[in-house]
Amino acid sequence: MKGIILAGGRGMRLYPLTKAVSKQLLPIYDKPMIYYPLSILLLGGIREILIISTPEDLPLYRKLLGDGSRIGVRLAYAEQDAPRGLADAFILGADFIGNDSVCLILGDNVFYGQDMTRMLRQAMANTQGATIFGYPVKDPRAFGVVEFDENQQVLSIEEKPEHPKSGYAVPGLYFYDNRVVDIARQVTPSARGELEITAINNAYLAMRELKVILLGRGMTWLDTGTPGGMLKAAMFVQTVQDRQGFYVSCIEEIAWRRGFITTQQLRAIGEDLSMTDYGRYLISLTEEGK
Ligand code: DAU
Repeated sequence: MKGIILAGGRGMRLYPLTKAVSKQLLPIYDKPMIYYPLSILLLGGIREILIISTPEDLPLYRKLLGDGSRIGVRLAYAEQDAPRGLADAFILGADFIGNDSVCLILGDNVFYGQDMTRMLRQAMANTQGATIFGYPVKDPRAFGVVEFDENQQVLSIEEKPEHPKSGYAVPGLYFYDNRVVDIARQVTPSARGELEITAINNAYLAMRELKVILLGRGMTWLDTGTPGGMLKAAMFVQTVQDRQGFYVSCIEEIAWRRGFITTQQLRAIGEDLSMTDYGRYLISLTEEGK
């Protein structure tokens, strides 16, 4: 399975913060925002990842993450020259996807929780069709909204509905079989002029091949689309890290725990950063064993 992180867009809702800097490079507490979605792909064991961003911002992502070898993965990069919508990721990524299945994660989505690995495995075990997630939120109107019956069969999925049919938002994490590339090529722009991911999900729903996995209250999914959302996410990360001592979405730690890099490699990265708490954390992992 291949992974795609969509990290483009204009970030206009965060102006002036994002006038000169790509949104997904802004910090969430002690890491760039893109570390959080990247950590989810690594947790899922996905090692071939395409990062899509604007022509202006892509060099900065390359500078931050390089070819991925430092964390034992292969990173590729693709330009999106205009924010044509989330479904554009599969058109831009067609060659990269090849004959594989694919997981798309949005560069501004933060997930955290004990069940995450299990949820990812469950989604990846569905090799046919599409798998999305449902997460209860107080006000789902700003999101894709999924409606389902008592057997968890999806009934409808709507993008930013005025009158949501359920209280379950669809987070920016999606799993598709290889047909998604052809489906994306057939999507036409919505009223807001975008190739909507919801149109893709509706195409799978029409084929009765859309599954939803519900994330429970033990899972955290945070929105970083506004300054307030970013601050709340930062405070969440700080609270968990300070209390437990475990880092949230530390990509080097996950790469090491997944066996992508050796203890010596982890230590070398930690030593390069030894003037920071982050670097000292990596070194401490190598001393305590897994
Ligand atoms: O966060 C989950 C929500 O993400 C879903 O519930 C919605 O169904 C889905 O449409 C999407 O809604 P948003 O309105 O939050 O999407 P937004 O336009 O903010 O874009 C999400 C991320 O993708 C953001 O980091 C920018 C990036 N992006 C967006 C577009 C439209 C791109 O890289 N390229 C694009 O063309």
